[in-house]
Amino acid sequence: MSKSTRWESKDNESKHLPIYQHKTKLVQAVRDNTFLVVTGETGSGKTTQLPQYLYQAGFCKDGKIGITQPRRVAAITVAQRVAQEMQCTLGRDVGYQVRFDDCTSQDTAVKYMTDGCLLREILADPGLSQYSVVILDEVHERSLNTDILLGLLKKIFTNPAKATKGRSFPLKVVVMSATLETDKLSAFLGDCLVFAIPGRTFPVTCTFGSAVGPKDIESTGYVKEVVKMALDVHTSEMAGDILVFLTGQSEIERACDLLYEKAESIDYRYDVQDQTVEGLLILPLYGSMPTDQQRQIFQPPPPKIRKCVVATNIAATSLTINGIKYIIDSGFVKQLNHNSRVGMDILEVVPISKSEAQQRAGRAGRTSAGKCFRIYTKEFWEKSMPEYTVPEIQRTSLTAVILTLKCLGVHDVIRFPYLDCPEERFILEALKQLYQFDAIDRRGRVTRLGELMVEFPLHPGLTRAVLKAASLGCQDLLLPVAAMLSVENILIRPGHPEKQKEADKKHRGLANKSGSMNDFATLLSVFQSCKSSDRPSVWCKENWIHWRALKSAFSVETQLREILLRLQQKRDFPVETFDGNKSELLRRCLCTGYFTNVARRSVGKVFCTMDGHGSMVHIHPSSSLFDQEAELNWVIFHDVLVTSRVYIRTVCPIRYEWVKDLLPKLHEVDVYELSSVAREEVTDEEMIKWENREAAKRQPEVSTEDVT
Ligand code: CDP
Ligand code: MG
Repeated sequence: MSKSTRWESKDNESKHLPIYQHKTKLVQAVRDNTFLVVTGETGSGKTTQLPQYLYQAGFCKDGKIGITQPRRVAAITVAQRVAQEMQCTLGRDVGYQVRFDDCTSQDTAVKYMTDGCLLREILADPGLSQYSVVILDEVHERSLNTDILLGLLKKIFTNPAKATKGRSFPLKVVVMSATLETDKLSAFLGDCLVFAIPGRTFPVTCTFGSAVGPKDIESTGYVKEVVKMALDVHTSEMAGDILVFLTGQSEIERACDLLYEKAESIDYRYDVQDQTVEGLLILPLYGSMPTDQQRQIFQPPPPKIRKCVVATNIAATSLTINGIKYIIDSGFVKQLNHNSRVGMDILEVVPISKSEAQQRAGRAGRTSAGKCFRIYTKEFWEKSMPEYTVPEIQRTSLTAVILTLKCLGVHDVIRFPYLDCPEERFILEALKQLYQFDAIDRRGRVTRLGELMVEFPLHPGLTRAVLKAASLGCQDLLLPVAAMLSVENILIRPGHPEKQKEADKKHRGLANKSGSMNDFATLLSVFQSCKSSDRPSVWCKENWIHWRALKSAFSVETQLREILLRLQQKRDFPVETFDGNKSELLRRCLCTGYFTNVARRSVGKVFCTMDGHGSMVHIHPSSSLFDQEAELNWVIFHDVLVTSRVYIRTVCPIRYEWVKDLLPKLHEVDVYELSSVAREEVTDEEMIKWENREAAKRQPEVSTEDVT
């Protein structure tokens, strides 16, 4: 098939999308308004078509069209699709940018990107002078960065004086959402016009299961149930593709393996109801999947084959897969939540909301009537599922975005225009953490260090450690570690018990090779060994390491190094000297960023965190320090996993004296006192009073005993 005939067919396809009928009016509405809300059912063509309409209408004459997505996979796959529809090479006229992966060029006129990327661009250029149109997409998802962008765009572009600053042509802001809360959005943006794309949907019949109830939240027994249900549908329902909702990569891979195994034994002559169905094509879909594999998802299956996509929540609204007639809903989602028990953000599996369940079901009724099989009981629906999903801004750490806002000159972070306000204590908690990392001073003003920190797309604690290392001239130790912590899981964990043993042995060997039992050092050692190997992919295979993850780590490390170099060249970068033991250097640097994650052994194998929460934690079995607990006293850790116990992961032993001077900082500032500095209008007099009070209150050090 020649290129032009293929394009013709795609073009026809897009003419059938609901948005096509409204092309002229939509373009006009963008022309006539600074702010515009566009709503329409998922799959109506908002994300892929509107940017093309605006491009054709000449909106790229002065600047680019930028479209944000809360999820990186969506940004990448949609850009691929649009480049294909516009018949251009990805990265030229149409491109994408996500964290650590920039596929754009000078020529890029239509740029898909994550909301986090646009936030970084605003930092460098608050007037967004390169853009003629900014489209915030998937606003109903209520991701933290999109919510912050909404507030910022409102703040900058509803103010005529600010809106034209640094710009020679006006900016158009389009906010796109799948039908939810559009009145609220319009009111928030000064009662702007709402353009609703009428869409038709077909009825979807939903049934509840009998197996999974509220008690199953902690087990993953629902994976088996989902697989059973998918096979039932495959054998007893008429042709049409299946979409299964699970929570994450490992679960999805397990489900696909099980499905594959079971589907092998189907005898298509006797076992299936619809005799036109002669096979099952099983496809996983999750965020960190290779992009060429992701592309397969959208392709129609071969004739007589039923497609079964096993996906995370990404398939609920961000991506539309054609041909889906059956939904299997596990009722769970993986979500980042602030856990007040340990005082940290934790990725956890939780029941979805009822509105989310409806959204999932709706995916079966896009082109004809469909069916949704919920594996959970009616009781689970009633008792365990909330009505709506809480916006991310109200349930996760705000440390990084508050620093961004402060760097943008938004001092009063409490009265920032939030679509939904986060609880004040979360804002104060973020300010407290920024103060602990020396990113802001006691008055809530950004420090020199804070200005450097905001440049890194990393957690502020990790950034703090990287900057410490850089000031000591040993960034080569920390940059690889930061890169390794920023990519997906690097260790392969085979399902087969024998193979698992073999992998464990190799991994332990790698830990030993680093010379110290310390998970951060192991990451560094894996990075260096692989990099210096002649055949790195073979090396990975031999050592049970994911080569793809390491390849990304190499690229991330290079990018972090470039950011650092740029900062070191441009500004008066801090320089310090280190007169301690060189072998301790890595751990000493880590302490500067991880002193908020310090734990001390209390009894037996139990550790107690020192951040004021005093949580009882255990070392995770994946750590090289697991079973070495008795020899340890003080440790720092990268993150926490909560199951029936609280586990700390990526652990490193330290000496108390390294954090002795830092620990008091954890208790020094009372969050409620910080509320006064969170507001702009605090006077000098008030400030002095407050500082005196603080000084009087300051406690002696936590403990004077050095136990290491
Ligand atoms: O944004 P909205 O949900 O309104 O729709 P869209 O994402 O623009 O999707 C419009 C159509 O493009 C749907 O039929 C999708 O299946 C299709 N599409 C595709 O085939 N491949 C992609 N990578 C993205 C969208
Ligand atoms: Mg969309």
